[in-house]
Amino acid sequence: MRHSWNFGSLAAMTVAAMTLATAAGAAGGRLTIKADQPGVKISPMLYGLMTEEINHSYDGGLYGELIQNRVFKDDPTAPIHWSVDMRDSANGSIALDATQPVPGTALTTCLRMDVTAGGTGRGLGAANDGYWGIPVTPNTTYQASFYAKTDGNFKGPLTLTIESADGSRIAATAAAPAPTTAWKKYTVTLKTNAAASKGSEYRFVLSAKGTGTVWLNQVSLFPPTFHNRPNGNRADLMTLQAEMFPTFLRLPGGNYLEGGTIADRFDWKKTLGPIEQRPGHQGPWGYRSTDGMGLLEFLEWCEDLKVEPLLAVYAGYSLGGEHVDPGPALEPFVQDALDEIEYLIGDKNTTWGARRIADGHPKAFPLQYVEVGNEDAFDRSRSYDGRFTQFYDAIRAKYPKLQLIATANVTQRKPDLIDDHFYKTAAEMERDSGHYDSYDRSGPKIFVGEWASQDVSAPWVDADKKGPTPSLSAGLGDAAWMIGMERNSDVVVMSCYAPMFVNVNAGARQWAVNLIGYDANASFGSPSYYAQAMFGANKGDVVLPVDVALADIPAPALPHGKVGVGTWGTQAEFKEIQVEQNGASLLPVGGGSWTMGSGEWKQDAGVLTQSSATNGTDALIGDANWTDYTYRVKARKISGNEGFLIKFHTLDSANYVQWNIGGWDNSRSTLQRAHDGSLEEFGGAAPLKVDTGRWYDIRIEVQGMKIRCYLDDKLITEATDTPSVPPTFFTTASRDLKSGDVILKVVNVESAPRSLDVNIQGVNGIQETAMSQVLTGRLTDVNTIADPEKAAIKTTTLHGVSSAFTHEFPAYSVTVLRLKTKK
Ligand code: AHR
Repeated sequence: MRHSWNFGSLAAMTVAAMTLATAAGAAGGRLTIKADQPGVKISPMLYGLMTEEINHSYDGGLYGELIQNRVFKDDPTAPIHWSVDMRDSANGSIALDATQPVPGTALTTCLRMDVTAGGTGRGLGAANDGYWGIPVTPNTTYQASFYAKTDGNFKGPLTLTIESADGSRIAATAAAPAPTTAWKKYTVTLKTNAAASKGSEYRFVLSAKGTGTVWLNQVSLFPPTFHNRPNGNRADLMTLQAEMFPTFLRLPGGNYLEGGTIADRFDWKKTLGPIEQRPGHQGPWGYRSTDGMGLLEFLEWCEDLKVEPLLAVYAGYSLGGEHVDPGPALEPFVQDALDEIEYLIGDKNTTWGARRIADGHPKAFPLQYVEVGNEDAFDRSRSYDGRFTQFYDAIRAKYPKLQLIATANVTQRKPDLIDDHFYKTAAEMERDSGHYDSYDRSGPKIFVGEWASQDVSAPWVDADKKGPTPSLSAGLGDAAWMIGMERNSDVVVMSCYAPMFVNVNAGARQWAVNLIGYDANASFGSPSYYAQAMFGANKGDVVLPVDVALADIPAPALPHGKVGVGTWGTQAEFKEIQVEQNGASLLPVGGGSWTMGSGEWKQDAGVLTQSSATNGTDALIGDANWTDYTYRVKARKISGNEGFLIKFHTLDSANYVQWNIGGWDNSRSTLQRAHDGSLEEFGGAAPLKVDTGRWYDIRIEVQGMKIRCYLDDKLITEATDTPSVPPTFFTTASRDLKSGDVILKVVNVESAPRSLDVNIQGVNGIQETAMSQVLTGRLTDVNTIADPEKAAIKTTTLHGVSSAFTHEFPAYSVTVLRLKTKK
């Protein structure tokens, strides 16, 4: 689905007739659903949304404001995003001015325009470049507003224009009254002309004709918003969310709740009322927040999507490490949380319920879940147990029906839910799909408050190198993960992917992989988005047992791979590398050539030196198909914390086996296996310390699955390398109790289609037609602004369905079949 600014549409899904067919060569198997044996109830709130101000999610994203730096506080030294426009002989300058606050508001810094010559045109202009452009659609009405005053010399007039960045094409223009010497707010309507071309290559200009000084503040421009809410949201992004069928919105974060410091937390009371009363604050993701998206706007966003707010309250810990000790110091923060809850659900007789009503929302909001903090396991002071207890006791005493969520393990109180977070590769998500299968059912329920498959280990570091949205491969990992959550929905009662939004312009994002992308003008869902939309629309009420018997599952290949060397925070030298098989060298004469991975590597006179302090350096050599060899290398530590990483059975820098000699601060030796960058230990560990400056003889013998590791001819580790076949086929079935529909979800991560004999037992019969949704493509497929539906849902009507039919599940696909039962 492609969505355009202002023109969000409902999912336009292809509906076509398709008969059941099986391609020659598809692998086979059987799949049996036992519809008369309903299992666990699926939580009605299983799928929701998570939000925070990251990647310009609100300012430059969902929040409709188009002017960047509207109150001139984004940089205390210059009016960034504003430039002076001196056309038609106009002359003058613009500058920040902190000496002219607007009385009774939070508007303390303004823009001063000194006009020395009005020229022959519209005058001296202050031009704003918006959030990577001002979006224009033809025939559209925009609302501008601004505060202005003059020095008495300037007599006006003012002109507002939306025009191409070079000023050559005018999309809309309107006159504003001449300001006076007292600050006043002005509102002006602009309508783009029918011939204006749609795009985001525009800017906004406020021009002053005459001579003298004009001061401006809170210069704002809004396009039409979702449900025409004043100070509202982009319609296309709201529509994309609605089409995921979410049930709740976790707000306001994430790290954004906590802030970098206590002073920069999401201080909800400062986000209420008219926008001129909101001071804004520094967000934790490197840019300032207008707080135009304030607490009430978050709640109205929920209302517009018909979802419940899941309210996260600030719990006394901020990202930079500041925390508030439990006890009297924490009391004001606990009271603040109680006030916030009251703002949502209190009636007119309560202080904060009355404030909500005064702010324009008489009706209380629905609220069942309150989360105390965010990722408090990172609080090194270990104060969360005490902090949670204090919040828990106060909230429970006043609002006994609210469900309370802890963000880390606690011992003094039993939370109703624990918030678990998972950011992993697609392969890891697939392998971990059964994560909650063995979860202790007497423990707290689970809220998977952040999760995502992503092919990056530090998405905050590699923000601009990967993404900005996930590939189909990640979408498959996500779907496999959702299958596991759904099957375990007796404990996993809620979940939400993170982060949800990303402005795809260069420099706009702080996180590599995100669900929904956009620029100023258009937006798109990623394959992961579509997978969630399929699951959200087809959840069902109870899980049904599914038996799957797959034919032709490949046997695991014998361990194989190249060899290599590496280090962890350590400088080292390596020499005399030999790889022998049956007495013959596998390395070519002269040694062959190395592939250097991370680290600083140098080869000189037969010695390979790694001189950086990087964690996880590697240099590889050889053939990925090598098996059964003896690998010898001499190694010497030059300096650093640890010893050597000696690699074998290695495919690439992310998939390998290594002997870690002197790991864990130079204390142990162990074997480790990496799948797509994530490491697991195997074969036991032994204490071991590597001495600096001493050459060690390292020998690794691999024979079939057997591994023997020697240091200076002494056997240190002996183990079996048993690579498992990672799961590639995932299923779950459910029943919609109202319609009686049996819903089958299948994720096929195999490179070939799989044709299964599907049997539905325990029903009176299955109707001849069924709804099928499929998401498929190449693993590397990504959606973009230019190609928004490369991997998107295809909906078809299947014919020839019965309680026993054959169906082919394409390679690399997510399939939902909705089978109608006979009464
Ligand atoms: O989703 C991005 C960030 O990841 C969230 O702010 C934080 O809670 C987590 O570490």
